[in-house]
Amino acid sequence: MIRFRYAADGFFQKDFSYAISKYFDEKLVKLILIEDDLFYYIKTQSVICKISKENLKITLLDINNNIICEDEAGFHWQHYLLKGGKINYCSKKIQPDEYFYGMGDKPVEMNLRGKYFENFGMDTYGFQKDSDPLYKNIPFYMGVHNNGQIGYGIFYDNSFRTIFDFGKGNADVLSFYARDGEMNYYFIYGPNLLNVVEQYSSLTGRPEMPPMWSLGYHQCKWSYSPESKVREITTEFRKRKIPCDAIYLDIDYMEGFRCFTWSKEFFPDPKKMIGELAKEGFKTIVIIDPGIKIDKDYWVWQQAIVKDYFCKRADGTLMEGDVWPGKCHFPDFTSPNVREWWSGLFKGLVEAGVRGVWNDMNEPAVFEIGTFPEDVRHDYDGNPCSHRKAHNIYGMQMARATQKGIKRYLQPNRPFVITRSGYSGLQRYSSVWTGDNIASWEHLWIACQQCLRLNISGVSFCGSDIGGFIGEPDGELYTRWVQLAAFHPFFRTHSAGNENNFNQEPWSFGTKYEFIIKKFIHLRYQLLPYMYTAFWQNSIFGTPILRPLAFIDQTDIETLFRNDEFAVGDHVLVCPAMRPGISERLVYLPQGKWYNIWNDSEYIGSKEYTVGCHIDRMPVFIRAGAVIPHWPKQQYVGELDILETTLHVYFNKEKEVISYFYEDAGDNYGYKMGLYNLHKFYVKGNSKNLILSHVLEGAFESNKTFKIVIHGLPFNCNEFVIDGKSHKVAQKNLAIGTVKFKIEKDFKRIIIR
Ligand code: GLC
Repeated sequence: MIRFRYAADGFFQKDFSYAISKYFDEKLVKLILIEDDLFYYIKTQSVICKISKENLKITLLDINNNIICEDEAGFHWQHYLLKGGKINYCSKKIQPDEYFYGMGDKPVEMNLRGKYFENFGMDTYGFQKDSDPLYKNIPFYMGVHNNGQIGYGIFYDNSFRTIFDFGKGNADVLSFYARDGEMNYYFIYGPNLLNVVEQYSSLTGRPEMPPMWSLGYHQCKWSYSPESKVREITTEFRKRKIPCDAIYLDIDYMEGFRCFTWSKEFFPDPKKMIGELAKEGFKTIVIIDPGIKIDKDYWVWQQAIVKDYFCKRADGTLMEGDVWPGKCHFPDFTSPNVREWWSGLFKGLVEAGVRGVWNDMNEPAVFEIGTFPEDVRHDYDGNPCSHRKAHNIYGMQMARATQKGIKRYLQPNRPFVITRSGYSGLQRYSSVWTGDNIASWEHLWIACQQCLRLNISGVSFCGSDIGGFIGEPDGELYTRWVQLAAFHPFFRTHSAGNENNFNQEPWSFGTKYEFIIKKFIHLRYQLLPYMYTAFWQNSIFGTPILRPLAFIDQTDIETLFRNDEFAVGDHVLVCPAMRPGISERLVYLPQGKWYNIWNDSEYIGSKEYTVGCHIDRMPVFIRAGAVIPHWPKQQYVGELDILETTLHVYFNKEKEVISYFYEDAGDNYGYKMGLYNLHKFYVKGNSKNLILSHVLEGAFESNKTFKIVIHGLPFNCNEFVIDGKSHKVAQKNLAIGTVKFKIEKDFKRIIIR
């Protein structure tokens, strides 16, 4: 990773960034500096940075002198007379076979080549394909070229409005620029794209482990109100035995949309209600917006006025704008004192039993004018500036203050925050959803792209409003959406259904669909240990949970422009059905052997297949050699004391495949003190036997046994040998292809023959 900073006039600005994690560990690297008449060369172990003496143009090469990334005009700038600053540009040559990825929540195809984007988060209600900008601001992209041999990333850490042109203006030139601030970017060499994302997240931070319940199914609506409506919904879930972990209260739970208050009429005793919901396994999550109602009798407003915590205009008056409560003032979340104060406001909510907070409208959104005027002032952690500089980071600082608050009061439990806006690094504080989408088939596809793109942009914990926020899906669309989202890290239905009295719950579309939806929510709960392991990989290594095909095998050029298949974790490949009326679809499988999860049929990858996707079957494949942990179905996380984890082992002949299974208490910080188990499984077979090896790390006391289910065994199993002890298989249990048996948790090696 190499950081490039440029000062147009010889003066560098103060070095401060909200994006960079305090845990980022800058390591000393051995550098060799060479110089000839024309160039300086800075050589590291893997990269050569060649700098032209004549014009400072940079060429980055790998150690075999292959071009990774090459300046076109490189750094250049112009005065921005109107604003008194400078527009800082950097332009790079696009390599002939280069593809681009990343950039957060942009609602477009995976490959960004030929496209143009801005980062300036806005409240984009009812956005469309190609709408830009949207809610999030992630100025990070990756490039891959040279038949996939070269992959790298560039993170342009500038919080002003940034612009990225991936060859739209000039097909051979990529440029990025900002309307002020510094040209300050990080170049990250892979060559592996997945590794680029991991490095990017070492720089901008990785999330702590979320509470495991937050991986369950969430139900939301604008709004479930009054209390009796909330109870009606939660009762229905339990009655119908459809798993659900979280229920949301949208803005109507408050007294006149005043944050941190409860409507006396509609929620007279929140503590009692939340407590009773908790007994049934529901976690209550409430919305908190940044707009604080101007009301002399409202304690939150009073406190902020007295402490001078609201944002001000350049001329010293308070920033005033309309949002849900009417005229509002807005806390300056870029001030550490304001964040500290804000975090304290959550005491009451957490004491009432609230387990998570939903931060919305934090682009920030203001009715009529869209967002704050440019002259609004911000503290920016002691680097006072205008809204031009603070706009893109405002939402992230709100989520940061919110996380701080609920974390403090929820201890020892883990916090759950979800935000609509954010800047690079937001993943340290919060999960996200993709905002106000529409109940349409195109939006189902958009949700798939956005969640993938967010994942490779450092933000794994994301999801879309299942079924669409605006409008009414039919049963087929809603069902297909649940199927896709069952594999998204954040799994929540949300809709603006109160506007037209429309219901968007799993049972709203008739029994046929309810049955299928339930099956997929069940599948999600069965796969929880697998999903949780993917969250762990994200938390420890920064590996994205969702991975587009290009991030699985970038040397297979077929994968580079694929939008409609993706991996979840290391070994599960999902091919969502995203068009109405289809009962089959084309699926491209990357290299290796894959098993269809529904019937164990085997497929050889690097090839396209037509696969059935009848409404009750979304195509899902498992990599040969994988070990996939399953739990029994639960109505909510923690309903059952799980004494057994089923390991689904998929036979593999070629090279040994490694799988992880991570487990901890699911909701405290014991794992940071070693209270976790990391199981590593290695699978390798031949025509006569299959060897499953197991290495266990960690000190977490957990459930005692594994049940092992082996898929795709190509021979009759007569015997299995567990740590040297032979067990004969009774003939009546014998089935070619599948063997099941139970085993203690700390086994080392099983041979099946
Ligand atoms: C915004 C949010 C939406 C929420 C609504 C009311 O439109 O994006 O999710 O339901 O506000 O709070």
